[in-house]
Amino acid sequence: MCGIVGYIGKRESRGIVLDGLSSLEYRGYDSAGIALIEGGDGTLIKQVGQVKGLIKKVNKTKPKGNLAIGHTRWATHGAPSILNAHPHTNKDETIYVVHNGIIENYTEIKTKLISKGYVFISDTDTEVIPHLIDYYWKNLGDFDKAFYKALKDLTGAYAIAAISTHAKNTIYAARLSSPLVIGVGTDEYILASDPTAIMPHTKKVIFLEDYDVAKISKNNCYIHNLKKTKEGIQEPELLDYDNNVVLLGDYPNFMLKEINEAPATIKTATTGRVLSSQNLIKLGGLENVEQQLKYIDRIVIVACGTSYYAGLVGEYLIEEIAGIPVEVQLASEFKYRDEPFSRSTAIIAISQSGETADTIAALKKVESYGVLRLGVVNAVGSTIARMTDAGVYCHAGPEQAVASTKAFIAQVTVLNLIALLLSNGRTKQFKPLLMELEALPEKAKTVLESAEAIKKVALKYKDYKDFLFIGRHIAYPVALEGALKLKEISYIHAEGYAAGEMKHGPLAMIDDKFPTFAIATSNHLLEKTYSNIEEIKARKGPVLAIANNSNKDINKLVDDVLYIPETLEQTKPILEAIVMQLFAYYIAEAKGYNVDRPRNLAKSVTVE
Ligand code: M6R
Repeated sequence: MCGIVGYIGKRESRGIVLDGLSSLEYRGYDSAGIALIEGGDGTLIKQVGQVKGLIKKVNKTKPKGNLAIGHTRWATHGAPSILNAHPHTNKDETIYVVHNGIIENYTEIKTKLISKGYVFISDTDTEVIPHLIDYYWKNLGDFDKAFYKALKDLTGAYAIAAISTHAKNTIYAARLSSPLVIGVGTDEYILASDPTAIMPHTKKVIFLEDYDVAKISKNNCYIHNLKKTKEGIQEPELLDYDNNVVLLGDYPNFMLKEINEAPATIKTATTGRVLSSQNLIKLGGLENVEQQLKYIDRIVIVACGTSYYAGLVGEYLIEEIAGIPVEVQLASEFKYRDEPFSRSTAIIAISQSGETADTIAALKKVESYGVLRLGVVNAVGSTIARMTDAGVYCHAGPEQAVASTKAFIAQVTVLNLIALLLSNGRTKQFKPLLMELEALPEKAKTVLESAEAIKKVALKYKDYKDFLFIGRHIAYPVALEGALKLKEISYIHAEGYAAGEMKHGPLAMIDDKFPTFAIATSNHLLEKTYSNIEEIKARKGPVLAIANNSNKDINKLVDDVLYIPETLEQTKPILEAIVMQLFAYYIAEAKGYNVDRPRNLAKSVTVE
């Protein structure tokens, strides 16, 4: 949550930082700001609203400087306003700080500083940081020492970047439980809260670790760890990515672009891993724990939001393909539970960003249990990817729209692969599923080609105020995900339910103003789903359904049908999800909403 960008080097910093903020805007878009240092003077410009507002304001004066930090905010402490926007500064405006995370002991620090004459002008926790550095600077007369002293007083989670007219050739950065990456260029460094802002400039990056403090000048980046003995210059690693993935191209927004990336996403997630001609599944990321995997008799999946729903799909997949009991828990619940664990349990953390605070906390909770911690992560080099023992990358490329779409497709694909690997080939579905995974990109393409039909239906249903999504078996979590997609971008109240639960309560809601989206793709439970649909129709509830191409009978039962190609039970969630993503998309678009930046939300939830 919130985006940080910093630049130091030979180029004019303004444009680089503002472009970086635009690319990180999905992390927060309530307000934004930039601070630059030129000669011995600092300039601070802030604006409420999206980064484009800040860009307009900055372009009026075009401040110069080869050193700058910027921030795009998702409000936690204090409403979106200029005073609450970052960077925050001290009274003399000599120190500027941007911060992601939460300073838990800020009230205590604030009280102490107020007693020493400091005046606060914002409602944020962050504002204590520049004042605290100022306090130590005035006492110690050394900016390095002042920054370190201030850091040691802070508890909570932070990614911090600070610049000062007292140290005009340096960016100071620190990380604790909130990501920071340093891009290494030629005589320049770009600092950011995720690599998206760095990608246009360099592929060489250094991921800061918890308790790392970096002192970055134009041609030097010195890293010191407050807890370990690590100190000095660190070799960067090379990020492998295609820069086009972060550009919109001809699409009007990232959500539509990312939905349309489904075929490529499945392909990338399976290439080199699914080898049907050799009847083989190859997951390089799990090779170093191959032996341990043989002894796993229970799996607990932890995740949030869409990743949690992908986990629920994974539960059906792993249990039915590999025969290992799986439990899926919301990371936010898991971390506060006190449940027994055996060492033969494996934890799988699923996360697109790899930075979700609750999922990280869930992994930290089991750190000392001696259990195997695996990751299904999209963002390469992210915190979860680094803290797990092994894992399988989704390789979906950066996902920028707040509503997760291609990441769900990649997660379910990867969970199929993990289930197959854990089955050790002992399931008769092995070969057919390998072959189907190879055929799936084409089928996803077919679903995307039906976008106009999905749009037509979406427009018909756009004015309803409530929506129910139902499914059975592996389609049940897909129904949950369909409801989440609709509510988060169109603000229509939507609930996902197991179809079998209708008579246990939800049916009471049904009338002609309460439509149901039923997943009615053929399987051994189709007749039962039909019964649920009949019950809804008997109460005048409009029903729209997803069905297989071959199932033309369903036409007589429901008001509208959206068809998907025939596929295996295990891969249906992928095709069904694409339909639901497009359905939600077209409703939100028709309502004129910003589909990429839904209200009140941010892409990575890096605070609890
Ligand atoms: O990055 P993660 O996958 O860990 O994020 C989890 C959720 O925050 C995320 O899926 C969220 O629910 C999305 N807005 C859903 O579209």
